Amino acid sequence: MRYFITGFVAIVCLVISMAGFQGSFTRNTPVEVFPDMDRQPRVRPQASNLFDTMLGAGDGRGSRLPVAGSVARGAAVGDEPKLTGRQAGSEDWVELNPLEVNAGTLKRGRERYSIFCAPCHGQAGDGSGIVTQYSLTTADLHQHRLVQSTDGYMFDVISNGFNATTNEVGIAYSRMPAYKSNIPIDDRWAIVSYLRVLQFSQLGKLDEVTDLDKKAELQKAMNGN
Ligand code: HEC
Repeated sequence: MRYFITGFVAIVCLVISMAGFQGSFTRNTPVEVFPDMDRQPRVRPQASNLFDTMLGAGDGRGSRLPVAGSVARGAAVGDEPKLTGRQAGSEDWVELNPLEVNAGTLKRGRERYSIFCAPCHGQAGDGSGIVTQYSLTTADLHQHRLVQSTDGYMFDVISNGFNATTNEVGIAYSRMPAYKSNIPIDDRWAIVSYLRVLQFSQLGKLDEVTDLDKKAELQKAMNGN
């Protein structure tokens, strides 16, 4: 027993003197009993070469682009009007929103509009969003041309942006950004239906006001006194 205790203490001392305490630092190369998968050939992010040298891809990239024609899982494919805003087999825009327009769609549209569009186009759609205070200009969505435009065109502007251009350092962008990847299809159509409500809200005529006092008040305001 005496030998065992002495031997045990000696082994513990030996192990500690060689390996150190847990968490202590050393500049020496560690002894690797099982190297596991610590070192292995792999593609480093942003690094070139591996595919160039091994497979001869020849474009200097380590990270590969998706194969042409790849479709993300769950992504919508095809050229149905609901996905493109265009009539089947034609370049013409669909006239009417394919979504059923009801209180639910409009509510959803208003909420999404407030999140995605109002910062630039303003809560009322008149182009006076918060960004105009930082010297950005946007568009008034009550322009006659846009009131007259088809729902399909509106959907396309939201999806693919509008007015592609290039900045001073040569980076391409569109003045109205594309929201295809940020807003799901049904939400884009819901925004279109809410846009129509916004536009309609600005098209009331004085004759349509039934309350006579109110009408007189409005008439006065219109006359500017
Ligand atoms: C970052 C700011 C910004 C946001 C956010 C934005 N827009 Fe725009 N939008 C613009 C600008 C700028 C233009 C004007 C482009 C031009 O005429 O050069 C524009 C133009 C438009 C037009 C007019 C296209 C035409 O034919 O003249 C529509 C419609 C439109 N936006 C809808 C929307 C909707 C709907 C949303 C929300 C999903 C939205 N925009 C979000 C900046 C924005």
